[in-house]
Amino acid sequence: MMLRIPEVLSKQQVAHCRQVMDAAQWIDGNATSGHQSALVKNNMQLPETSVEGRQLGDLVLDALERSAVFISAALPLKVFPPLFNRYAGGQAFGIHVDNAIRPLAGSDFRIRTDLSCTLFLAEPDEYDGGELIVEDTYGAHRAKLPAGDLVLYPSTSLHRVTPVTRGARVASFFWLQSMVRDDGQRTMLFQLDTSIQQLAARLGNDDPQVVQLTGLYHNLLRRWADS
Ligand code: NI
Repeated sequence: MMLRIPEVLSKQQVAHCRQVMDAAQWIDGNATSGHQSALVKNNMQLPETSVEGRQLGDLVLDALERSAVFISAALPLKVFPPLFNRYAGGQAFGIHVDNAIRPLAGSDFRIRTDLSCTLFLAEPDEYDGGELIVEDTYGAHRAKLPAGDLVLYPSTSLHRVTPVTRGARVASFFWLQSMVRDDGQRTMLFQLDTSIQQLAARLGNDDPQVVQLTGLYHNLLRRWADS
């Protein structure tokens, strides 16, 4: 499932990120690439260990913790510290699949990448091109979202970023390991949770069917989740 989550960051938070990013030192984006990705990747990144990157990464993680939709859709177990990238002057990222295992340099922290996330930090009218295109069995899906919005997609998908031919596309990107490894199971849990929330708003949390469905949700989660 590919999902758009609006307003993960406020416009003020986006402006703060942009200010910090403008003043920071950038490096070649291939610092974090796998072998095949390095052949097709052409962009800039904040170094994984930079003070600015860590500080902004924490801001993004805090925002994710407050997003009920993100938690329900991703069921995160471990989130990789968010990274930041920038494409300009024709830079692009050709078709690739993200590495299955992502270690954090200089630590024993590592995750299996179940979901990939892009948090847009530039408005769509600031740049031409720079669309994220994700391919799945239903075809190609495009995302170029307002600043502050996030897109979440299975890390198993082939994806690319089209060349940025005007302006600059800046974004945060990261991966997470979900408590529920299987995308189909995770998607059904998200749909069930969303429906229960809507029913509860209409009928009340103590409605007997809402209680029963809530129990069903938790029993499925218990069956499918690693924690
Ligand atoms: Ni990728």
